[in-house]
Amino acid sequence: MDLRIEKLISGAYGLAHDEEGRAILVKSALEGETVRCKSISRRANVLVSEDYEILKPSEMRIAPSCPHYGKCGGCDFLCVSESTSSLLKTMMVKENLNRITKIDDTSFFLPPSYSSFPSFRSRCRLHVDLRTKEIGFLQRGSNSLHPLSDCPALTGRINDLLKSRDEILKEAQRRRLLYGINKKTGYVEVPVQDGDDGFSLNDRIITAGGYSINANCFFQSNLALLPEMLSFVKENAVGSVIMDLYSGVGTFSRLFEGEGKTVYAVEKNPQCLSLSKKNAPTAHSFTSDALLFSKKVRERVDTLIVDPPRVGLENAIIPILLSWNAERIIYVSCDSTTAARDLSFFNGYRISRAKVFDFYPGSFHEECVFILSKI
Ligand SMILES: C[S@@+](CC[C@H](N)C(=O)[O-])C[C@H]1O[C@@H](n2cnc3c(N)ncnc32)[C@H](O)[C@@H]1O
Repeated sequence: MDLRIEKLISGAYGLAHDEEGRAILVKSALEGETVRCKSISRRANVLVSEDYEILKPSEMRIAPSCPHYGKCGGCDFLCVSESTSSLLKTMMVKENLNRITKIDDTSFFLPPSYSSFPSFRSRCRLHVDLRTKEIGFLQRGSNSLHPLSDCPALTGRINDLLKSRDEILKEAQRRRLLYGINKKTGYVEVPVQDGDDGFSLNDRIITAGGYSINANCFFQSNLALLPEMLSFVKENAVGSVIMDLYSGVGTFSRLFEGEGKTVYAVEKNPQCLSLSKKNAPTAHSFTSDALLFSKKVRERVDTLIVDPPRVGLENAIIPILLSWNAERIIYVSCDSTTAARDLSFFNGYRISRAKVFDFYPGSFHEECVFILSKI
C-alpha cells in the first residue's frame, strides 16, 4: 500500500491515512514522503508500519551514520541531521500543546538547543545474554538482542567496555544472582554511566560535570548539552525559596549552592537522595514520595521545579502545587504529551518561555523545559 505522510507525530511516527480514512503510523517516516508499506500490524488499536520502502524521500532525510540503524532499537530517528531533529521535536512539542492544552500561540518557544550525535550518550542500559555472552540493545520492535561491539551514540569509554566485555559480563553475573533475569527477554540488564573520572555499572560513585553520580540513579545522559539546560533552569528561577520535586541526585538543587537560598530537594529513591546530599549539601533533603511530601508543605515557595518521570505528575498533586501560589513554576519534561496534559490544569499560570533541549539526537526522545509565570 502506498501512503503519503501528512505529518510527524510523537514517537517519531509519520502519520498517514489509507483510502478508507484509517490512520496508519509509519515509523521514522517524514512529512511529505511517499512510502510503500510492505507490512502493517495492529498495536494497541493503532495500525503501524515499520517495514516500508521510501518512494519519494523528504529533502530533510539523510543517510544514517550508523551501520546498526534500522536493526538496533537504540536509535529510531537517525534519518535527519541533529539541527533538523531539534526543530522537528520542537514542532512535535508545539503540536502536543496545541492539541491537548488548546494553546494556539506558541511564540514563547525559544530556538532549540542540540548537540552532535557521535558519542553524545554517557548513560545507557545494556542487555546481556549470559548463555552466549553477547551484549547489546534490543532489536527494534522486538525482545531479541542486537549484539554490539561498537555504538557511535555511546561515549568512547562505554565503547571500550563493549569491546573488552569482561566488566559488563561480570556485572551481569552479579545482577543475575541479585535480581534474576528479565522474564520478558531472558536477558540481564546492566546500567552503564560514564563520567569524568571513570565509569559506573552499579552503586560505584563517579563524578560528571561536578556531580557525584552512579549507574543506579537517574542522571541526564547528554553531558555536552546539560550545562545549557542547567543555566536555563537557573536563570528562570526567582526568589529565595526553591522547591525541587523529583530531584534525583540534586541536579537542579546544586545550582543554588552558596547563594543563600532555601532549597528543598524531594526524591523517593534513597540512593539518589544520598548522592543529592553530596551534590547539594545545604539543601533540605527529603526521601519521600512527592505527593506525600507536598501535603505537608506549609512554607512559602517562590520557585517550584518539577521534573517527573515520563508518566508526568499524579493528578492529586496538581491542586496542592497550585495552592503554594509560587511566583514561578519550572516544568522539566521528557514527554510532552504528559506535560501538556498536566499543564492544562495549571490555571492561574501562563507559559512564558519554553525550550527543547535535544538530549537524544538519533532517537525520538524529547526533553523540554516550560517556564510558567503567575498571571
Ligand atoms: C526524570 S528524573 C529527574 C531527576 C533530576 N531532576 C535530574 O534532572 O537528574 C525523575 C526522578 O523522580 C524520581 N521519582 C519518581 N517518582 C517519584 C515520586 N512519586 N516522588 C518522588 N520522586 C519520584 C525518580 O526516582 C527520579 O530520580
